[in-house]
Amino acid sequence: MGRKELELKVQRFDPSVEKAPRFQRYAVPLKDGMTVLDALLYAKERLDHGIAIRFSCRMASCGSCGMKVNGRPVLACETQVADLGSSTVTVRPMDNFAIVRDLVVDLGSFFSKHAGIAPHLERKGDLQEQESPSGEYLIRPDELDSFVQFTYCIKCGLCSSACPTSSTDSLFPGPQALAQAHRFVEDPRDEANEERLDLVDKEHGVWRCHFAGTCSAVCPKGVDPALGIQLLKRHVMAARSPSRRKKAKGGGGARVFPNPNKDLVKSP
Ligand code: FES
Repeated sequence: MGRKELELKVQRFDPSVEKAPRFQRYAVPLKDGMTVLDALLYAKERLDHGIAIRFSCRMASCGSCGMKVNGRPVLACETQVADLGSSTVTVRPMDNFAIVRDLVVDLGSFFSKHAGIAPHLERKGDLQEQESPSGEYLIRPDELDSFVQFTYCIKCGLCSSACPTSSTDSLFPGPQALAQAHRFVEDPRDEANEERLDLVDKEHGVWRCHFAGTCSAVCPKGVDPALGIQLLKRHVMAARSPSRRKKAKGGGGARVFPNPNKDLVKSP
């Protein structure tokens, strides 16, 4: 790497005492393999303890370090400084979220919207099996293929920060929540399709997505929320048109298979 030093421009803002954001510059010595999070942590540890950053895993798994780097929503911990091709790196908090301080945003509404689509499998007709499981709920590999990519979501918020609808409609669930709704609607083990589709078939629901596709473009895990939302629209249309309805859940899509290892686990 030819450059020896990086100019790190960090947006600073404490809404409790300041009226507007400002940028602060830090000179950070470059190292091979340095990520934007590494540069921020250098600045925080050596130059300015006051910089507020949220991070945890440092390996693109926890979804904590989403921010805008040189104008693009990314995970700071997986963004290599060398790949940015610039001696100046500008870091701002994600759009579409209230700023708590500096680079930390309030993800409360984001998680509420995720919880609002009931992101869990629901069974209705086999309470006895749920109380005393005799096996596992299995699905075929091709059934899993139809939604597995959506299970890779790490809830970092980058998709919602890039979504033009989310920026203009605070009631819109956002690409993350809608893609997760699709994930559970598509899962043959789930039996709450009707209720979940009701949750998204609203004035500010799935139809507000205009298929800009920015959510999919910025997802760090290769999930395609824009696709999930369009498929979710198809599910809603099918549910609202009985003659076109192909998929009726209620026990037909999931099978209980005896656990082959159950005899290996014995009570003491
Ligand atoms: Fe966990 Fe970046 S620190 S995703």
